[in-house]
Amino acid sequence: MDKRYQEQVVMITGAASGFGKRAAEMFAAEGARLALSDIASEALEAHADTLRAQGTEVLTDAFDVSQDAPLKAHVARIAETYGRLDVAINNAGMGHEPAPLHMLSAEDFDRNIAVNARGVFLGMKYQIPLMRAAGKGAILNVASAAGLVGSGNLSAYSAAKHAVVGLTRAAADENARKNIRVNAICPSFASTPLVDEMTDMVSARTGLDQDGAARQITARIPMGRMASTDEIVQAMLWICAPQNSFMTGQAVALDGGLTAV
Ligand SMILES: NC(=O)c1ccc[n+]([C@@H]2O[C@H](COP(=O)([O-])OP(=O)(O)OC[C@H]3O[C@@H](n4cnc5c(N)ncnc54)[C@H](O)[C@@H]3O)[C@@H](O)[C@H]2O)c1
Repeated sequence: MDKRYQEQVVMITGAASGFGKRAAEMFAAEGARLALSDIASEALEAHADTLRAQGTEVLTDAFDVSQDAPLKAHVARIAETYGRLDVAINNAGMGHEPAPLHMLSAEDFDRNIAVNARGVFLGMKYQIPLMRAAGKGAILNVASAAGLVGSGNLSAYSAAKHAVVGLTRAAADENARKNIRVNAICPSFASTPLVDEMTDMVSARTGLDQDGAARQITARIPMGRMASTDEIVQAMLWICAPQNSFMTGQAVALDGGLTAV
């Protein structure tokens, strides 16, 4: 059977851990050539080496997605190396210590907006011209259920992820007639290092053990559990696939029903 991403060039930010790391593996298994980036350079290189050993072409750059120049240079390197960019997954992101808005520092707010919202803006700013030149492309931004509804104690994160949804919809509108689809996914919780860290913080704040903290986090989710990383990445593969050619501007909730009730 044909592989869905044979020969396609796929850029993934935040590729050293969690969704991004698994996405690199699953896109590679579908035949993709990869451009991976992360701020965590050692973990990024280790992951890239594993993928190369399995026969996948991988280009890597380590940088902070909130910074303009290195992101621009990374996309330029993709153009030089591969001559094309078919799929871009703007996935790098960070949480913040859960706290009510009035207790959150302005510095934490600024940093969260810079990484989670500005990082996605900059990614698309440089990916879109390359895709326009080729006359096609698919962009997937990783937002959050906290980008669809307010998420108490995560106000900066929630604001940044709402911004990601807005950027997605606007970019989809601007590029729909250029054959570039732009969508977002909005997961609630999946057990990645980011959420494990959040579980630790809830546990420290409430005195609950790890299981109790995880139960508190998932209490409002109708399915009553977190997603697996693979459940999220399978959706990425479907949303970006060339066969899924009429979907654009969507913020797809992958949340066990959280935002439906
Ligand atoms: N895990 C969840 O339940 C969940 C839910 C909703 C949304 N998300 C979003 O999914 C995305 C991936 O998160 P994850 O759960 O896989 O977390 P993760 O912490 O496992 O992975 C995030 C990766 O992004 C990298 N990163 C962080 N800041 C960066 C920066 N400034 N520049 C470049 N790279 C940076 C980290 O080094 C890490 O490798 C994030 O945007 C996150 O907000 C996750």
